[in-house]
Amino acid sequence: MTNPAITSQPINNLSGNRWSPRAFLDKPVETEKLISMFEAARWSASGGNEQPWRFIIGVNHNETWQKIFDTLNAGNQEWNSHVPVLILAIGYKISSWDGNESGYFKYDTGQAVAHLSLEAMHQGLYVHQLGGFSVERASELFDIPATCEALTVISVGYLGDPLSLPGKLKERELQERKRKDLSEFVFSGKFGETSPLINGK
Ligand SMILES: Cc1cc2nc3c(=O)[nH]c(=O)nc-3n(C[C@H](O)[C@H](O)[C@H](O)COP(=O)(O)O)c2cc1C
Repeated sequence: MTNPAITSQPINNLSGNRWSPRAFLDKPVETEKLISMFEAARWSASGGNEQPWRFIIGVNHNETWQKIFDTLNAGNQEWNSHVPVLILAIGYKISSWDGNESGYFKYDTGQAVAHLSLEAMHQGLYVHQLGGFSVERASELFDIPATCEALTVISVGYLGDPLSLPGKLKERELQERKRKDLSEFVFSGKFGETSPLINGK
């Protein structure tokens, strides 16, 4: 199943075809593909080149996979039980410049995950990010230090058949994807004023 973005201008294939499926195959993912994804994250930009991202990866129902799965809320567990790869994305909070909490650790970690996601697409894989997990449980299970914060879980695998999902999830999988119009977030002059680049005025 493809679920391409409907765009006002052509965009690159990786971004255009990326979406967050719930139907994944239980087929294992090749190690080299996973390493390529982490390499893409590694070469992401970050404030002061602090590289605050950290990842914990579990594969194929191994102990780490099970622990990450245990942090998920019930709704996310429903469709993740056979996803072959689960990754916990963690941000290191402290700036090495002044020892205070960095204003960028979440921004930078999210950006690294965006790079990881597009590399996944390049490798023929799909990614679904999840905020629906317990940060506290993840911290406990993985002994995450107080200088760090678990931010998301990332499901990774090959695309499965939407018809394999239970009722409501099947419907969601097949729903039209929606986005704000460019006029709602590209401004010129002042905040909230649509840029003439977008509306031609
Ligand atoms: C930070 C973050 C948290 C998310 N949390 C969940 C989640 O807990 N469960 C879920 O099914 N999808 C989750 N999603 C997926 C979003 O719902 C999805 O990206 C959004 O609806 C846009 O759809 P698309 O990625 O297919 O374009 C999350 C995405 C992000 C980036």
